[in-house]
Amino acid sequence: MKAISKTMNRQEFFRFMGLSAGVIYLSGCVLKAEDVALNADLLDLTIKMDDARYSDLLKKGYYVVVNNRVIVANVQSTQFVAVSPKCTHEGTSLVFQANSNSFYCALDGSRYDLTGKVLNGPATLPLVLYKVANDQKSNTLRIFN
Ligand code: FES
Repeated sequence: MKAISKTMNRQEFFRFMGLSAGVIYLSGCVLKAEDVALNADLLDLTIKMDDARYSDLLKKGYYVVVNNRVIVANVQSTQFVAVSPKCTHEGTSLVFQANSNSFYCALDGSRYDLTGKVLNGPATLPLVLYKVANDQKSNTLRIFN
């Protein structure tokens, strides 16, 4: 039997534990994106809006990047947009620019609209657009596809 070591990567760990599913549910926990999806396009996470790490989401025009898996922007007071956080040209991290309501890559200038569609290249492929469910009763935001 292989021992768990500090050098074991996530996929090896899940294989070691006998888990192969891309999504893991833990009761009572808010899951981290890196914990729930091994497939880059599969995402289902819930964030608590009162968590200090996401406090920028309470402000229109601000955004957060969650675990390098998704960039979430507050585009209207309670309306959020979530897309993949890396530019499809060469993988640079994107920012949300409220003045143009778009996602921008500072490396070569690619720009994406709120649906992830390329507005300006050199990128040619769209971002992954995720669904966002804003549950004001539980004060959570579920981001999924
Ligand atoms: S990496 Fe984003 S435009 Fe080149």
